[in-house]
Amino acid sequence: MQTKEQCFDSMLTLTADLFFSIENDLFKPYYESGPNEVKSVLDVGCGNGTYLSRLSDQFPMWRCTGIEMDDRIFRYAQLKAADHLTFIHTPYENYQSAEPFDCVIIRLAAAHLQDRTHFMHWLRHQLHPHSIVILIDVEESLQLSLKQSENLPLFSELYQTMRKPLRASRLLSLKDSLLLESEFAGFNPLKAVSYSINADSTKTRKQMYDYMQAVTGAYYGSPLPPKRQAELNEWYNNEAASFEVGLFGLVLGLKA
Ligand SMILES: C[S@@+](CC[C@H](N)C(=O)[O-])C[C@H]1O[C@@H](n2cnc3c(N)ncnc32)[C@H](O)[C@@H]1O
Repeated sequence: MQTKEQCFDSMLTLTADLFFSIENDLFKPYYESGPNEVKSVLDVGCGNGTYLSRLSDQFPMWRCTGIEMDDRIFRYAQLKAADHLTFIHTPYENYQSAEPFDCVIIRLAAAHLQDRTHFMHWLRHQLHPHSIVILIDVEESLQLSLKQSENLPLFSELYQTMRKPLRASRLLSLKDSLLLESEFAGFNPLKAVSYSINADSTKTRKQMYDYMQAVTGAYYGSPLPPKRQAELNEWYNNEAASFEVGLFGLVLGLKA
């Protein structure tokens, strides 16, 4: 039996497991190029700290700082603190870095922020002219196809319900909203990319099954409601049934 917090922790660890390597390939060129090679990173809304901790393992010389406002998930991040890897329990609104960061990551957190105009303004003040910003979030066009998923009607509906309050605009996708808001705040898009993962190998299939259980558990607690557990088990045992999770990534720089 897991608590909702434990399920949320597992859910964040699984998204990091599923996407870390593809995201590393996509964004590494930006960490290593440009007038200033990245040496310091701020992760806003770092959750349980798994993603930042993976980055810190990959780039041990980076100074990594994660900020997270929710104490229930911050506790999991704090356990991962190490040399060069610091976690601070604070809303970004109360945080001001002493020195600018070379890179700021906002992964699966932008849709949770109350006031993104305020956030973009704050973000500018954590950067130097050659810093980069990486925004990663859920690709909503794939969510719609998920809705049509015949094999996972209960899970699809739950996923939609959990994402719904996060959407700021009915007219624009989150990606387009972020592009517009960042442009208005003085950022240039350097890259915009969409990527997804399918349940096409035994390992990914199991990770996705665990992910769907963790998402359901984060909402309902565990054990999962029997009908929902049965739906996930049936999906897992039916190798013909697929599932796709899609994200997008934006790399931004400051306008000259
Ligand atoms: C879905 S989690 C993503 C965690 C992590 N970035 C990852 O990729 O696994 C979003 C996190 O943003 C945090 N968050 C939301 N608003 C925040 C704010 N104003 N300041 C700091 N953290 C915030 C939430 O508490 C939540 O833990």
